[in-house]
Amino acid sequence: MTNSREEKIFSAYEGVGKLSNLYNGMMTASTLLGRFALKFFWGMSVEEYFKFLDKAFAGVPKNFSGKLLEVPVGTGILSLPRYKSLTNAEIFCVDFSTAMLNAAKNYANKISLPNVTFIQGDVGKLFFSDNYFDVVLSVNGLHAFPDKIAAHNEIFRVLKPNGIFCGSSYITGQNWRTDFFVKQFCNRVGVFTPPHENFQSLELKLKNFYKRVEISNINSFACFKCIK
Ligand SMILES: C[S@@+](CC[C@H](N)C(=O)[O-])C[C@H]1O[C@@H](n2cnc3c(N)ncnc32)[C@H](O)[C@@H]1O
Repeated sequence: MTNSREEKIFSAYEGVGKLSNLYNGMMTASTLLGRFALKFFWGMSVEEYFKFLDKAFAGVPKNFSGKLLEVPVGTGILSLPRYKSLTNAEIFCVDFSTAMLNAAKNYANKISLPNVTFIQGDVGKLFFSDNYFDVVLSVNGLHAFPDKIAAHNEIFRVLKPNGIFCGSSYITGQNWRTDFFVKQFCNRVGVFTPPHENFQSLELKLKNFYKRVEISNINSFACFKCIK
């Protein structure tokens, strides 16, 4: 690990990974605490949240059968169930945190996903060759990554021409309460890493890399699908 931003996010998620049941309950809005946080901090109803999740994953083609990189996979609670139907895809799941990754591996074993490989690694230094993946999926990653430029460069590098980069990210400027919470809690604790994009700046950033960009938002979360 080369700098303090990386160390901060690494240790924050080592902690989160050890509380994976709590994290999973929040991420699936299946607990009272999760539903409260969703409404109070993220300004979303459960219905809006599920709509957001569907949009975040919508860039992955139905019955996809090529090579897919997911970074970061986290505990896999949102993505792994969706891979059950992609039996002909070759899927690589990367995350920085060993604790988050271990939770994802345990979950994958439980639901049996033989075509998914888990690798601990940094999105800013991916060890895949150029033009390797048909799809790169990043759900709630861009607002966490400590070196966002390296992340964008690496995702673009490993994606094939005409490949799809899709997923979601927190954006500023949509809800003052969410922005306050992110600034005072998420950034400080280290689960998010500033600076964060707003809708326009994220769109511009993606358009600098990709020939086609579709972006929309539900409250403070942008969902995107880009073609290289
Ligand atoms: C908000 S979680 C999102 C995880 C998952 N996609 C989800 O939605 O539940 C952010 C994840 O980013 C990972 N992460 C942070 N920096 C990273 C990096 N440089 N490379 C790879 N993963 C990173 C963290 O370990 C954490 O699991």
